[in-house]
Amino acid sequence: MKQTSTASGRQHPPGPAGKKLKNMRRLATDYTGFFHWLHEHWGGIVYFNMPDGGHCAIFDPDLAEEVLVRQPELFQKDCPASAFEVIQCPALARTPYGDDHGRLTDLIVTAFTPERIAAFKRVAVSEASSFADELTAGSTVDFRAEVERFTWNALTTTILGAGRDLGPGPGLAMLKAAKLGFIVFALPGYKLIRKLPLPHDLKARKTIKPLDEAVYEAIRNARDPASEDSSLIAHLVQATEQGESNWSFSNDSEIRDEAYAIFVGAWDSAVHVLAYVPHFLSRNPHVQARLEEEVDRVAGDRPLSAEDLERLPYAEAVVNELLRLQPPAPLLVPRRAMSDAEVGGFLIPEGTLVEVVPHVMHRRVDYWEDGEEFKPERWLAGEACPRHAHSYLPYGAEPRACRGIPLAAAVTVSGLAGLARKWRLEPESDELPADGLEVGTLSGPILTKVVSRVE
Ligand code: HEM
Repeated sequence: MKQTSTASGRQHPPGPAGKKLKNMRRLATDYTGFFHWLHEHWGGIVYFNMPDGGHCAIFDPDLAEEVLVRQPELFQKDCPASAFEVIQCPALARTPYGDDHGRLTDLIVTAFTPERIAAFKRVAVSEASSFADELTAGSTVDFRAEVERFTWNALTTTILGAGRDLGPGPGLAMLKAAKLGFIVFALPGYKLIRKLPLPHDLKARKTIKPLDEAVYEAIRNARDPASEDSSLIAHLVQATEQGESNWSFSNDSEIRDEAYAIFVGAWDSAVHVLAYVPHFLSRNPHVQARLEEEVDRVAGDRPLSAEDLERLPYAEAVVNELLRLQPPAPLLVPRRAMSDAEVGGFLIPEGTLVEVVPHVMHRRVDYWEDGEEFKPERWLAGEACPRHAHSYLPYGAEPRACRGIPLAAAVTVSGLAGLARKWRLEPESDELPADGLEVGTLSGPILTKVVSRVE
């Protein structure tokens, strides 16, 4: 793209010329491939057009820092309210950076007391052990469905305090509606389309009803002074109603919405991380062997315990490497330039949608040694990426970083370690699990043979 100078002399970043529909088609055909192509041709910051206006993609850690860390008021998260048919209130993840965001952040982070983290870990480890016990040697399973169930059980118990018995159906319907909502949002005339009774919204509204009932009951129970519920939803109720927080909810449906918004983000991401385990471990037998050696040495003949999670640095390194190569957020939530701004000396016009792209940053060979290779060892020896701390953004960056990292780590590490105690997993396909719009950024089953370690 020809760089356009403005009256102030500043220019747009470089990028492909015009052709908004061509760009949209290319993006729709190969979502992450489109951003790799932009980076390869135009460098660390790229301007491109889409039917909904100008976009700017960022692949450079210093420039990402300029947007995310240094100018959060100027670059505000842009999540269309219309995408979330079943979650109406903005919740922390969609609240603009400012005072309300600060108060809500305080409310969420105070949930992570050492006692509550310990309780979360106990639930995660116990669910991980049931998950591994329920698999059968020699069977072929849809590994994605198995992971959905395990993470659903662990996270509904720890976040919602209810819903485990319902199984993942309501969550799948909720996520599909939200993700299709994002696609509709990018189409011309979306406001009109959004008013129509779209089938995925109707399905989500219906499927979610039993979960709603269970969650409203959990909210009522949390008000009982004798309640011993340590779930996140109990914290939301108790901290706000007992005056321990500067935040207050107007009604129970706002509490439900906050908990759902956190839940879907957490569940979607945890499924995504674990879904890639068979692919990467089956191709790297030395990693599988080292993981098995670690879990066996730490747990011996007894089942894994919550305390063991602190003693599994290699399992943690495997999770970090999965997050690097297959980040659940290949793009962070897009930021909207609230007025004309400058990044890396370029003009970013007001209204531009700015996308920071971990999927590209995490693989840059000029930052990461053997950037395209799966090498968990890199996380054990000092700095995994000595070139730049902000080149690794699977959890975003302050002041809008992920608030659930202790819980995310508990669920992913316990799932991985629980499997490694008993099984080796052989996916039927050599291909990476397909991109799509269901839970995680996946689509379709991941057919996997379950092989006993003693075979
Ligand atoms: C492997 C699991 C997870 C991953 C990879 C992940 C990733 C992320 C990312 C990338 C963001 C920031 C997006 C951005 O700035 O654009 C984010 C935000 C957030 N995450 Fe997570 N997340 C995970 C699990 C969780 C869990 C378990 C919780 C809570 C219990 C949680 C709560 C949140 C919240 C509340 C935000 C919004 C922060 C804000 O906007 O200020 N996440 N997460």
